[in-house]
Amino acid sequence: MNVKERVRDSTIGRSIFRIPERVTERDRAAGHWASFLMHLYPVKVRRVELTFKYSAFLGVASLVLFGSLLVSGIFLMFFYVPSPANAYGNIQAIQTEVPFGQYLRNVHRWSAHLMVLAVAAHMARVFYRGAYKSPKEFNWVIGVLLLVVTLLLSFTGYLLPWDQLAYWAVTVGTAMASYVPIVGDQVRDLLLGGPTVGSATLLRFYVLHVAVLPVALVALVTAHLWRWRKDSMLTTDEIGDPDEPVAKLQPGLPMTEPANGEPIVLDGKRVLGVVPGKPAAGDRKELSDEDPVMVWPHLLVRHAVAALAVLFVVLLIALTFDAPLKEIANPTDTPNPEKAPWYFAALQELLAHFHPLVAGVLVPGAIVMGLMALPYMDRNPRFGPEFRRIARITFTIFMVIWIILTLIGFAFRGPSWSWVWPWEEWHGEL
Ligand code: HEM
Repeated sequence: MNVKERVRDSTIGRSIFRIPERVTERDRAAGHWASFLMHLYPVKVRRVELTFKYSAFLGVASLVLFGSLLVSGIFLMFFYVPSPANAYGNIQAIQTEVPFGQYLRNVHRWSAHLMVLAVAAHMARVFYRGAYKSPKEFNWVIGVLLLVVTLLLSFTGYLLPWDQLAYWAVTVGTAMASYVPIVGDQVRDLLLGGPTVGSATLLRFYVLHVAVLPVALVALVTAHLWRWRKDSMLTTDEIGDPDEPVAKLQPGLPMTEPANGEPIVLDGKRVLGVVPGKPAAGDRKELSDEDPVMVWPHLLVRHAVAALAVLFVVLLIALTFDAPLKEIANPTDTPNPEKAPWYFAALQELLAHFHPLVAGVLVPGAIVMGLMALPYMDRNPRFGPEFRRIARITFTIFMVIWIILTLIGFAFRGPSWSWVWPWEEWHGEL
């Protein structure tokens, strides 16, 4: 008997561990299904999903950052009243009087910026892997909605400190809404609750930020993860001969079916599962990337390490840099330049060159619609990079253009949107 077995077998051990030790895969799968938290995960994933290269754990990072935002956001809510008379003073009090207030405000602010980055990077990783292809098309669409909600969450939160940075960033951001054809002014009035950013705007943004958008995000993430869980065994990244027919993978096949969809047949009868025996030591075969492995412990341990790493980075940034707080919002003192938050800097840069209808409405509309339509337009069934040159090059060109425009708008624009260098005083604030 080894130490573990002795502990389990002792009087105290038996009082703690009611369930007999799970040895076979079938036993372990039953344990997985019996646990609420584990049940959120599939029982098995393809071995390749364990690698950093596969997902860079960016979906998990997005989820952890959202968790960090929820916890720090609830803390901030205890000390914040969304009215122009109180908001700014509340934030000052959080920073100076509330124990750990400054620190938790930092955690909230930096987690928000990091979440925008993580979600965008997760989308790019999923794209390059071709993981939006059948049968995951709709999960990609849910993902695009998640990206939009994440941006809106960040943007509505931006106004809440009610300082000059917040006030003018939101003035610029909401001005674009008025260029929506026909209903533009109504959309803007609906967002602002009046002709300019004021007390009604602050209350609306607050309700959107702490109730409507988080609930929408939780609902969408739940659907997203549920579909990921159901589909997790269904993609093959195999790079095959382009003339070979691609194995059609269907949702709902039991996990014991081989990847080509042919049922396992024993003595002429179709069987649903195979109970694996323990192979003799010298008999173990090398696992390929496509072989299923148990999620517990292999994937869960990696996800836990990724989650801790993300939290560590957030804590470190929050200890090093304080979230900005400028002077109190002053509607009569327009800063020059007025800058939108960095994730809208590319759109603001486009506004300087094109009609607002094009830059503020048609371009963002086309980007969101184009992303949603992508899995239905790209009918190439292959996953391997060599079969997806055009898709990958097109996506990369768009991303590089967007990053350059963001950098220009954020760091290289000064008074009246003239060109300046980043070390001059006008660069954007986070
Ligand atoms: C709040 C935002 C998001 C969260 C919390 C989130 C979370 C996750 C998680 C935890 C996974 C499984 C593990 C992984 O692949 O990393 C996943 C998979 C996936 N995500 Fe997201 N995601 C978000 C946004 C997005 C966006 C913006 C897209 C694309 C537009 C997207 C598309 C996908 C797809 C297609 C999968 C399945 C990948 C596969 O099975 O290979 N997600 N997501």
